[in-house]
Amino acid sequence: MADTIRILVTLAEHADQRLIEQALEGDSSLEVVGYAEHLDDWRQFLEQPGDVVIVGCYGHDDGMAAMVDHAIKHRPDRPVVVMSEASPNGFLRQAFEAGADDVITLPQTPEQVAFTLQKVIARRKGLSMPGKAAAPLVGVLGPKGGTGKTLIATNLAVALAERDANVVLVDLDLQFGDIGLALGLSPERTMYDLMKAGAPFDHEKLDRHLIRHSSGVKVLIAPTRPDQASAISIDYLRDVYASLRTMCDVVIVDTPPGFTPEVIATIDVSGDICMVGMLDSLSLKNTKLGLETLDLMGYDTEHVSLVLNRADSRVGITPDDVSTIVGRKPDVFIPSDREIPRSINEGTPIVAAKPNSGAAKAFRDLADRYAKTPVSAPAPIQSSSSGVRALIGRRR
Ligand SMILES: Nc1ncnc2c1ncn2[C@@H]1O[C@H](COP(=O)(O)OP(=O)(O)OP(=O)(O)O)[C@@H](O)[C@H]1O
Ligand SMILES: [Mg+2]
Repeated sequence: MADTIRILVTLAEHADQRLIEQALEGDSSLEVVGYAEHLDDWRQFLEQPGDVVIVGCYGHDDGMAAMVDHAIKHRPDRPVVVMSEASPNGFLRQAFEAGADDVITLPQTPEQVAFTLQKVIARRKGLSMPGKAAAPLVGVLGPKGGTGKTLIATNLAVALAERDANVVLVDLDLQFGDIGLALGLSPERTMYDLMKAGAPFDHEKLDRHLIRHSSGVKVLIAPTRPDQASAISIDYLRDVYASLRTMCDVVIVDTPPGFTPEVIATIDVSGDICMVGMLDSLSLKNTKLGLETLDLMGYDTEHVSLVLNRADSRVGITPDDVSTIVGRKPDVFIPSDREIPRSINEGTPIVAAKPNSGAAKAFRDLADRYAKTPVSAPAPIQSSSSGVRALIGRRR
């Protein structure tokens, strides 16, 4: 029998008390141990022992957001779940921005609610295992296509692995992911296969679905077909990230262009963002918009690195112009290098193929931002399989 889940319930204004009670009554694993309406003394309420706090509301509600915030600040280790019937005034974003671990849209059966709460509690336990803090997650973003996100994500991952970090690289470009190609890996197992294998995402199962690169980086490859991509849900992604973060030192996520729902979910759970721009006015305009969007999402700019790719191109825009257009100085400059397209075709990132090149040095500078011990240039390594071969494997 499942362990009993001790629940503290509080209701914001307009919450449908009856609907919430119905969702919590009748499953023997659910026990409401504390209950309060329209809290005056939230401190006393939150002092009570319990495994999870449920905040009931009806849609968008500042009281709900304040309660979620209090609950998290009071006991950061205890998950908080928002419960509301579907509302026309949209509240999902508000709930997640306030820090809720999950949202339950009513009506749902007590069994469904119990399942969600168990998942949320297990996820928190996984994240806060003694002695093992959740690994940082770095999202590599660029609002425009073709700016070098995949190049940067792969080289950053390999540069971190070179300093003995246990790195997991996730290809979130679900429809057109090409990390496998860029690293010369054939997609024997992908994120889609992991999803088909079903929850829970225990370490053993996750590990079986990660493909190893010769640098030591472990890769979660994107689905190989667009129809498979549509099967990947935001909830699933959150679960996968939470589990991956308990089994490595750092998670790097390569993203598709733009702020798609899965990119927003990744930003929400990330600790750092690497925003990629290129030296042309269209890309820079989009980079500025991207930075502004992060700002609107309340993202701490301290944790955003601005990376300017192809930074030495002679296109009439200087790094100073960049600061003026984008509104901040780039943190890292990656030069254009003819060896880069070649290294991608060979499936060996430039940090490994040409460790003494300017581009490799720039990637190591970027890695310095996420690792404690800088490292000198290692000897070149030979790729074990070529990117072109990986492409052929993909078409099998
Ligand atoms: N610094 C560089 N020097 C030379 N070539 C580069 C450089 N950066 C990117 N490229 C070229 O641009 C191509 C596109 O880069 P990449 O695939 O990393 O972009 P992306 O932002 O991931 O694109 P998408 O939005 O389609 O996923 C690379 O295949 C490479 O050939
Ligand atoms: Mg890409």
